[in-house]
Amino acid sequence: MSKTDNLKGYDRSNINWYPGHMAKAKRMMQDNIKLIDVVVEILDARIPLSSKNPDIDELAKGKYRVLLLNKSDMADPEKTAIWKKYYEDKGFFVSIVNSKTGAGVKATTEVIQKACQEKIERDRKKGILARPLRAMIAGIPNSGKSTFINAFAGKACTKTGNKPGVTIGKQWIRINKDVELLDTPGILWPKFEDQRTGLHIAFIGSINDDILFPEDMAYELIKILMKEYPAVLKERYGIEETEEDSVSPVEVLETIGRKRGCLKKGAEIDLLKTSKLLIDDFRTLKLGRITLEVPDSQN
Ligand code: G4P
Repeated sequence: MSKTDNLKGYDRSNINWYPGHMAKAKRMMQDNIKLIDVVVEILDARIPLSSKNPDIDELAKGKYRVLLLNKSDMADPEKTAIWKKYYEDKGFFVSIVNSKTGAGVKATTEVIQKACQEKIERDRKKGILARPLRAMIAGIPNSGKSTFINAFAGKACTKTGNKPGVTIGKQWIRINKDVELLDTPGILWPKFEDQRTGLHIAFIGSINDDILFPEDMAYELIKILMKEYPAVLKERYGIEETEEDSVSPVEVLETIGRKRGCLKKGAEIDLLKTSKLLIDDFRTLKLGRITLEVPDSQN
């Protein structure tokens, strides 16, 4: 049995969150969701499936929904476009953003307005004076919620403070005349539905690295690279043979280890060290912009 067969039962005491925190965050989201018109869920564009929490569909029932494919600067642009269409076909309003540089962030106002068009029309017909749309940012840890809020709010934003009728302590950030954000983002926990989801979440740093199994992550990454990005294996590590029928991920990892001099005493290849090198190369973009998931595929 591989170590990741146990992924579902990860020793969660080691993960940097705990069931108590999960329950508290969920309660907070349930309370806050009543106050808002639209939920803006932030996904990591490198893992648009695994970074989306399916529970939010239940939690955000009746609310307008926007998805942001964040960290687009680290993801494969072609695949990001495919994912945008995939989620739009499912009825979401989707935007591609880079919260770090601010690219695409301002345009989120427009996307929020489009998502809430029905409400805007309804209010107008009833003669209700338009108030800013109220949005909540949500997402799994490390997806970029705080970075996005800072970029979206910018320097000119004003905190509108407590509103009459709104629970004391709630702060709204006025983005512009059209949109207000709740200043506390909703934290969603990744769903460990299967081994692959867990591994993918591990790649983007949402899980404390201490509990990871680098070799399992490396095999998964190599499988994806062999199928989707063989040129990367060739250019970065000089791997010529990438056909699944003729070479296994373990053999590819061994070749990388040999070429990179990751050796133990006696010239045995140090697979752990090689795996860490590979993961680090992915995280620091040395492999280029890689997306780990494609719609409806098992990679
Ligand atoms: P969270 O609130 O959802 O937990 O995430 P947070 O904003 O703290 O972002 C997590 C990390 O992701 C941060 O990096 C942040 O800079 C980075 N990040 C967020 N959005 C983007 C993006 O669009 N592109 C890129 N390349 N990075 C992004 P960090 O290493 O933890 O901090 P720092 O060294 O950048 O300050």
